[in-house]
Amino acid sequence: MSVLSGKNILLGVTAGIAAYKTAHLTRLLIKAGAQVRVVMTPRAVEFVTPLTLSTLSKNPVVYEFINHDAEKEMWNSHVELGLWADYYIIAPATANTISKMVKGTADNLLIATYLSAKCPVYVAPAMDLDMYRHPSTRDNLDALSSFGNVIIPAESGELASGLIGEGRMAEPETIVAFIEQHLVQKLPLFGKKVLITAGPTYELIDPVRFIGNLSSGKMGFELAKAAADFGAEVILISGPSHQSIEGYTQIKRVDVMSAQNMYDSVFQSYAGVDIAIAAAAVADYRPENVADQKIKKSDETLSIKLVKNPDILAGMGKEKKNQFLVGFALETENELANAQSKLIKKNLDFIVLNSLQDPGAGFKTDTNKITIIDKFDCITEFTLQTKKEVAKNILNMIVKNFK
Ligand code: PMT
Repeated sequence: MSVLSGKNILLGVTAGIAAYKTAHLTRLLIKAGAQVRVVMTPRAVEFVTPLTLSTLSKNPVVYEFINHDAEKEMWNSHVELGLWADYYIIAPATANTISKMVKGTADNLLIATYLSAKCPVYVAPAMDLDMYRHPSTRDNLDALSSFGNVIIPAESGELASGLIGEGRMAEPETIVAFIEQHLVQKLPLFGKKVLITAGPTYELIDPVRFIGNLSSGKMGFELAKAAADFGAEVILISGPSHQSIEGYTQIKRVDVMSAQNMYDSVFQSYAGVDIAIAAAAVADYRPENVADQKIKKSDETLSIKLVKNPDILAGMGKEKKNQFLVGFALETENELANAQSKLIKKNLDFIVLNSLQDPGAGFKTDTNKITIIDKFDCITEFTLQTKKEVAKNILNMIVKNFK
């Protein structure tokens, strides 16, 4: 999932030959899940048509202060555009526009919007090589950087003039990758590795039957997605689950079946992670022997001897070095006391209590109601929320407490 997904991106197009590449850039931004609106300088429309960009962005394109096409003539509000945008990308940015941005010369809608915008601004210069290396341009680009704008360096190659050198606008793919990387680095868990267990475990009785539980994996999968959205690299170790992580390249999914499989997988990664969250519902016991063949119906009763499974979370608590360790407690009675006891016994930094007494909480539902208890016995209660929101709250609490 791209960090640009769901974001409002304003694309500013100025009058350079590289403007033709903004059709592709618009497509890439839409593909990344962003909403795109385009503002152009009046001369840029000679290089790429507003119709092309409005068709691709699915939004009207503006390039004049006054909209003469509207039923009643009206202002195109640069203030509204600036407030709407989460990010403003000016590509291509000509030497002329760059110079006006430095001086604050708001003689067109694109620059008036730049002066109004409160969001991060990315500038992709495009011009001939002598213009690009001219001290005036270098000074202007330095000035733009010093104002907090981010410059996406021009590339080397053949220029429209036929000359070869630096000044070509970065390719649309490079612009998108540059911005994504720049944004990811600012996320609170960038550079951190997070291990998450999710789902149920199945303990085989024979080749066709197992002891399982009602966990769907929803809570653990939402945690994995939230951790990835916070910039982390995620290892998701899941019991059998139909949940999906489609689109999340930062999540490595490992599918397991039994508690012992989950234990083995967890300890292959645990030493190298910064944070571990155990959301899986792990079977405490497994059949001592797994029958080789399907057990036939015979007597009125059937006894299966169960033996204890390893406690994965307790094992992580024991092996803990610098990891920040979070467990869950699924309770049906004496909730707080039971959760507090698990927190201490398993050497956790905090525990997330959910109770089957609360309607809408626990297994399978899209919602959950949690209470977080930390190792200093500070208790934070949350209202019933979607598991997506719950996951975000848990991650926020980790970020607040993680050193
Ligand atoms: O998957 P969903 O349908 O969305 O449901 C979510 C959930 C209810 C499964 C989840 O919110 C939850 O509560 N997960 C923990 C369930 C559980 O097994 O709780 P517990 O109180 O029995 O275990 C305490 C902790 O020890 C848990 O973090 C558990 O993962 C861990 N544990 C337990 C036993 C064991 N052998 N190994 C473990 O690691």
